[in-house]
Amino acid sequence: MKERMLITGGNPLEGEVRVSGGKNTAVAVIPATLLSDEPCTIENLPDIEDVRALVDILRSLGARVTYVPGEFMTVDPRPAAGTGISYRDSQRLRASYYLLGALLGRCGHGEVFFPGGCEIGSRPIDQHLKGFAALGAETETQGGRITARTDSLQGGDVFFDVVTVGGTINVMLAAAKAHGTTIIYNAAKEPHIVDLANFLNSMGAKVKGAGTDVIRIRGQQYLHGATYAVIPDQIETGTLMIAAAATRGDVVIHGCIPTHMEALTAKLLEMGVKVTDSDDAIRVRTLGGHRAVNIKTQVYPGFPTDLQQPMSALLTTARGSSIVQETIFEQRLKHLDEIARMGANVRIAGRMAIIEGVPQLYGAPVTCTDLRAGAALVVAGLMAKGVTEIYNPEYIDRGYEQIELKLRSLGADIRREAIE
Ligand code: EPU
Repeated sequence: MKERMLITGGNPLEGEVRVSGGKNTAVAVIPATLLSDEPCTIENLPDIEDVRALVDILRSLGARVTYVPGEFMTVDPRPAAGTGISYRDSQRLRASYYLLGALLGRCGHGEVFFPGGCEIGSRPIDQHLKGFAALGAETETQGGRITARTDSLQGGDVFFDVVTVGGTINVMLAAAKAHGTTIIYNAAKEPHIVDLANFLNSMGAKVKGAGTDVIRIRGQQYLHGATYAVIPDQIETGTLMIAAAATRGDVVIHGCIPTHMEALTAKLLEMGVKVTDSDDAIRVRTLGGHRAVNIKTQVYPGFPTDLQQPMSALLTTARGSSIVQETIFEQRLKHLDEIARMGANVRIAGRMAIIEGVPQLYGAPVTCTDLRAGAALVVAGLMAKGVTEIYNPEYIDRGYEQIELKLRSLGADIRREAIE
């Protein structure tokens, strides 16, 4: 059934909210359970579409999965005999390609189709394949299918040409069970890389250096079961911080890790937003107007590309002109064309946008083109005058757990309705 989201903007968000577990951690940790030789239990998983898709995928491989949303997921990988996943399952989420690394580590043979996920420009996987080859696997891409196979997975040195989150995770997964030591140079440093390393280590893997640009993995023959809680979602936290600022609200976000948010916090402070934090909470308040700021997306700990979209929505009403440079993905500014329908003054040239702040956005029908574009439209809708109709809101469900419920608990006027 098709749906649309309706937001009547203008209510300042006020109150307290708890952030869910991290999407981009969850989608790496769940496939990693296949590396274990015993059952594993994962806690603090967000109940989002990507997680539900992975449950189906693990079951299709033969794993026994018990999933109680909001509580835990237990995966017993022992009966899993499958080595590949279907085209339809591969298309359900970007992270379906982590099954390649996990299956390669588990049994030396993995097959997936080119993944789906958000269309934010070309998303090559050459570095993943290069990493698998360095571990002695033969890789082939044919008929839309990617195959990685080896009789003997061996540790090796992997030099990434670009810093890639997905490539780093995929090689870590395979290397955890390779013979010998793998060293990943120019590795990604995002918090979810560290979280995956912690999960692998909790199963008895030997991963060192995660969070730096050199990661060493000493492969293990046997990994035991573990119970592990994933870290809070950095991007959900950031989206809520931005929404609080956008509505001139006062919100305390609980259960987050403030040190993961430093790039965003610095920019919000530069705009004149008040941000204070404690061990696991962040308070965001805005009293007056916002100043324009420039944003350039970078790998962690730089400003995250996943927050560029909601942040640039906020900038459409900041005083002055902001320059947004998207350096990670080719097409991650499409949301600004939509927000222009709501009265934003935006010029886009390639991967750069110049935003001249306007005093007010006005509700209009707009369409999500990807997950974080959807989050950006929600931010725009919350600050607009009148009603914003957001079409294709299912993109948002890929990565945000109960977004309407959380925003309503803070005072937003947001709901969903079925459409023909
Ligand atoms: N790249 C290559 N070759 C490769 C892999 C990547 O050239 O083999 C390039 C990409 O084209 C891009 C850059 O390297 O220009 C970075 O891509 P990366 O591999 O780091 O991104 P990803 O693994 O595809 C993950 C997240 C994204 C997030 C990016 C950047 C998951 C499932 N996805 O994607 O999350 O934007 O890292 O932090 O973890 C989202 O949550 O909305 C989302 C898109």
